[in-house]
Amino acid sequence: MAALAQSVLVTGSNRGIGLELVRQLAARPQAPQHIFATCREPDGLSGKALRELAAQHPSIKLVQLDTVSLPSIQRAVQAVQSHLKGQGLNLLINNAGVSSRATLQSVDSQEMLSAFTTNVIGPLQVTKEFLPLLEKAAKGQGKEGLSCSRAAIINVSTKVGSIGLCLGVLEAPMYPYRASKAAQNMMTRCMAAEPKDKGILCTAIHPGWVKTDMGTEKAPLTVENSVRGILTVLASLSQDTTSAFLDWEGNSVPW
Ligand SMILES: NC(=O)c1ccc[n+]([C@@H]2O[C@H](COP(=O)([O-])OP(=O)(O)OC[C@H]3O[C@@H](n4cnc5c(N)ncnc54)[C@H](OP(=O)(O)O)[C@@H]3O)[C@@H](O)[C@H]2O)c1
Repeated sequence: MAALAQSVLVTGSNRGIGLELVRQLAARPQAPQHIFATCREPDGLSGKALRELAAQHPSIKLVQLDTVSLPSIQRAVQAVQSHLKGQGLNLLINNAGVSSRATLQSVDSQEMLSAFTTNVIGPLQVTKEFLPLLEKAAKGQGKEGLSCSRAAIINVSTKVGSIGLCLGVLEAPMYPYRASKAAQNMMTRCMAAEPKDKGILCTAIHPGWVKTDMGTEKAPLTVENSVRGILTVLASLSQDTTSAFLDWEGNSVPW
C-alpha cells in the first residue's frame, strides 16, 4: 500500500472519527512520516485516548488546536512547521465539528452562531492559516496533478447538509447543524476553485452515519468501517474528484 501522504493533520482527533483516522493512519504499513493529531486539550482528560495512542507510534505528534481560536491555530502552525523542518504539509483533514438537534420551534441565534463558528469559521481559519504549508507541499519536487500525497484539504461534511437531498427534515430538523454544514460545503467548492492552480485538491467527505458521541449508538456504521472507507476514498482522489462531495464508499453526494 503506497503512502497516502508524508504529512497529515487531523482536527478534533481526540475521539470519534478523528481519533480513528489517526489510529488507522498510524497503523498503515506505509504510515505518514508525520501525523499531526490535534485537539483542544492534548494534556487534559479528553486527550487521554490520543496520548495513549501517540505513545505507541512515534509518527503521531500531539498538537493543541482549538479550531475556533485564532491564536491556538497560529501556535499550531508554528509547532507543525518546526516538526516539518522546511517541508510542506500534504494533507489537512478538517474533521472537528459540532452537532445540534434544534428544531424550528426551539432554535435560537446563539445555537446557530455556535454551529457556524465551529463548522464554518473553524475549518475556514484553519485552512487559511495552514495554506502556506499546503502550498509548499504542492510545489514539492516531482509533484503533478492533484492528490492527497501532493497537497489536499478534506472537509468532513454530512449528507444532512446536502440541499439537493434535504433528507428527513421532520425526523432530523437540526437547523444549526444542517445549515452550517451546507455553508461548509460552499466553502469546499470555493476552496477547490481557488487553490486549484496551486496544486491543492479540495473535497468534502460524508463519513456515513457513524457510532460516535455525535452519531450515537443508533448509527448503523462502526467508526472503524467508516474510516477504512474514508482512507480508501482519499487515496483515490485526483483532478477528477477535486470539488466533489463523496461518501465514505466513494459515491457522489448531491450538494
Ligand atoms: N458521527 C456521524 O454520524 C457523522 C455523520 C456525518 C458527519 N459527521 C462529521 O464528522 C466529523 C466528526 O464527527 P464525530 O462523529 O467524530 O463527532 P464527535 O465524536 O462528537 O467528535 C467531535 C470532535 O470534534 C472536536 N471539536 C469540536 N469543536 C472543536 C473545536 N472548536 N476545536 C477542536 N476540536 C473540536 C471534538 O473535540 P472535544 O472532545 O474537545 O469536544 C471531537 O474531537 C464532524 O465534522 C461531523 O459533523 C459525523
